[in-house]
Amino acid sequence: MHSMDHFLYRNGVLHAEDVPLTEIAASVGTPFYVYSAATLTRHYTLFTEALSPLPHMVCFAIKSLSNLAVLKLLGDLGAGMDVVSGGEYRRALAAGIPGNRIVFSGVGKTRDEMRLALTHGIRQFNVESEPELRALSEVATAMGVVAPITIRVNPDVDARTHEKIATGKKENKFGIPIDRASAVYAEAAALPGLQIIGIDVHIGSQLTELEPFEQAYKKVADLTERLRAEGHTISRLDLGGGLGIPYTRSNEAPPLPLDYGALIKRTVGHLGCEIEIEPGRLISGNSGLLVSQVIYVKEGEGRDFLIVDAAMNDLVRPSMYGAHHDIDPVIEAAPATEPHPYDVVGPVCETGDTFAKARPLAPLNEGDLIAFRSAGAYGAVMASEYNTRPLIPEVLVRGDQFAVIRARPTFDEILNRDTIPTWL
Ligand code: LLP
Repeated sequence: MHSMDHFLYRNGVLHAEDVPLTEIAASVGTPFYVYSAATLTRHYTLFTEALSPLPHMVCFAIKSLSNLAVLKLLGDLGAGMDVVSGGEYRRALAAGIPGNRIVFSGVGKTRDEMRLALTHGIRQFNVESEPELRALSEVATAMGVVAPITIRVNPDVDARTHEKIATGKKENKFGIPIDRASAVYAEAAALPGLQIIGIDVHIGSQLTELEPFEQAYKKVADLTERLRAEGHTISRLDLGGGLGIPYTRSNEAPPLPLDYGALIKRTVGHLGCEIEIEPGRLISGNSGLLVSQVIYVKEGEGRDFLIVDAAMNDLVRPSMYGAHHDIDPVIEAAPATEPHPYDVVGPVCETGDTFAKARPLAPLNEGDLIAFRSAGAYGAVMASEYNTRPLIPEVLVRGDQFAVIRARPTFDEILNRDTIPTWL
């Protein structure tokens, strides 16, 4: 069920909060992304409520949806930010997030990125390897500052999610093996310019069960006791992101933030640590739709194609992960309408540009608007201009207001990014 969002039919028209999607389409053209401020707020608040009264910070994983307006909205609610690049760090700063609420994750932080964050302020670096530890120590020492760190441990648990987004098995590239934690923490403690403040773990994304979190967090609790016994200060636990969302309205019911919070309290609540989490998808996923228009309905061999004006470059998840996104007509179908199976495809010249196969939908015609659900996370941020299709606009709705928060670029802007050398 999409019961936690604010995209509902009213008088037969799909709305984002109080704004009919037809109105946005008429104003900005299709395709576009639209986000609901009320849904973003609600999802963020579910996490803060689930973790209270433990001391905590919810650091939004910017990678899932990085528009400055969204970051500002969440930042104003008190959210911290989890960044994985200098670019994301700059976004957080530009949205007004103070450095002491920004966490820097990622396996390949460069020295330049480290300097950037140490210059403008950082809550902590989540260090993922020994070479990174040494690099950060060098950079901080050269700058005459101390870098607060956690070390990301790989707990070797199976997140039971799509293989491309599982990160907590020992064969994955992330973190240090939990068995080596004692040695690596000892090395960190001996290096100048670093201050150990805690432990970090993140086992994967779109987890639909609590079990893998429980295994991982129990290991982190044991490790906390062990590292403390070895003389380290462990005052903060970053427990990562990854809580999954419902992508279909069938009987799919991933665990709720409240149950996740209870699990955190049960597994690590007794340690007296400040708790940090890095959710992305659960906050942004069902806060956004991709709205598109039917260009043609084409009869094929034993199937009808719905050729729409959005494509894999706008929303890559179906072609990249085989992901399912529910599709709804913007104008609600009459009650007893018989669904018709469609292959929903974009205009890009690849068979992989397919959003859905044999998807039963109310009959649609040229010019009709459709909405892809659950497109707020890993949608706009993964878009490209493949086929020289301009990045599509992003729109934010709050109540009865809406604003374009990223405009569609003009073709001149796109073409002007290229340079033809004078010697050609
Ligand atoms: N923290 C770290 C260190 C991460 O690597 C990730 C996601 C998160 C937090 C946020 O995870 P979330 O709460 O959103 O599950 N593009 C893929 C998802 C990639 C996730 C990468 N890491 C998709 O479209 O499904």
